[in-house]
Amino acid sequence: MAEDVYILAIESSCDETAAAVVKNGRTVLSNIISSQIALHTLFGGVVPEIASRKHIEKINPVIQAALDEAHMTLDQMTAIAVTYGPGLVGALLVGVAEAKAIAWAAKKPLVPVHHIEGHVSANFIENPDLEPPFICEIISGGHTHLVVVRDYGDFQIIGRTRDDAAGEAFDKVARAVGLGYPGGPKVDKAAKTGNPHAYEFPRAKVGENPYDFSFSGLKSCVLNEINRAKMTGETINVNDLAASFQNAVVEALVSRAIAAAKEFGYKKLAIAGGVASNSALRASMEEKCKKNGIAFYRPSPILCTDNAAMIGAAGYYEYLKGTRAGWDLNAVPGLKLGER
Ligand code: KG4
Ligand code: ZN
Repeated sequence: MAEDVYILAIESSCDETAAAVVKNGRTVLSNIISSQIALHTLFGGVVPEIASRKHIEKINPVIQAALDEAHMTLDQMTAIAVTYGPGLVGALLVGVAEAKAIAWAAKKPLVPVHHIEGHVSANFIENPDLEPPFICEIISGGHTHLVVVRDYGDFQIIGRTRDDAAGEAFDKVARAVGLGYPGGPKVDKAAKTGNPHAYEFPRAKVGENPYDFSFSGLKSCVLNEINRAKMTGETINVNDLAASFQNAVVEALVSRAIAAAKEFGYKKLAIAGGVASNSALRASMEEKCKKNGIAFYRPSPILCTDNAAMIGAAGYYEYLKGTRAGWDLNAVPGLKLGER
């Protein structure tokens, strides 16, 4: 029998300092997340310089907590995996420098992990039966991609956003209606008591590729509605507006994912990234998948937003493939999907 593989995973690409111990890619022994949300809320969004400084402060205790909670020592780890991109350069550098130092000192292999591959891999953690190939919709603060996961870490992109990422649209609309940061969860909550048909926002059709997305037109419509109401002295019903906006985003995300699964002939559909924790999206996706005989996979909300367990899952498959970084590993803030 093959020996167990224990990955110590480190994630610091944005505003969460996170570390996890993952066994054989699918069993999470610990998953520590130190969120900076409260700090950035004061400024209405992530302040990169503050994020980097906080990562430096938190990274050692977070890693120690991950090892302690797993009841394991650094010596028992098989490899160290770290997110090296995409993300904020200063934030990424903290994790990368830390991982290099630990791997060097403990004489462990260093496995570089693509943040987006991490998000996709979050689906493997709670679904032991899920294996490629399948369709995955990756919806985060910086990315909106529809892909075929052909194999572990091997993606065929079939659609992408032409402008804003879905999470970015949530964040901008939340700020405009006064819900503040972090936008996604606040819109999600407000929408629960709103009428999704109170405002009719247009559904964008994007160019030739039916699987591409566009959210900036929708965002502008919401902003126009707010300005119009201000000028006419009307009060905006924030919950209705949130629900109507969210409904338009969810429809765009669900219709394309289902159409792709059908056209490309896949019976398995997964979602990934922070927006995948949206309650309306999860409910709608589940319903439409059921109707179409497609198995629907989604990580628990805590594994949708940034965490290191997902990096440990992706890191395991990269480790098995022989992916290794040298001591010259650098942060790559603009790393594209499918790039190394
Ligand atoms: O994946 P993630 O944690 O970080 C990136 O890699 O970007 O995604 C963060 C994004 C933010 O835009 C946030 O507003 C959005 O995910 N988000 C949500 C929800 N929770 C987080 N969007 C909609 N509904 C949610 N419940
Ligand atoms: Zn992320």
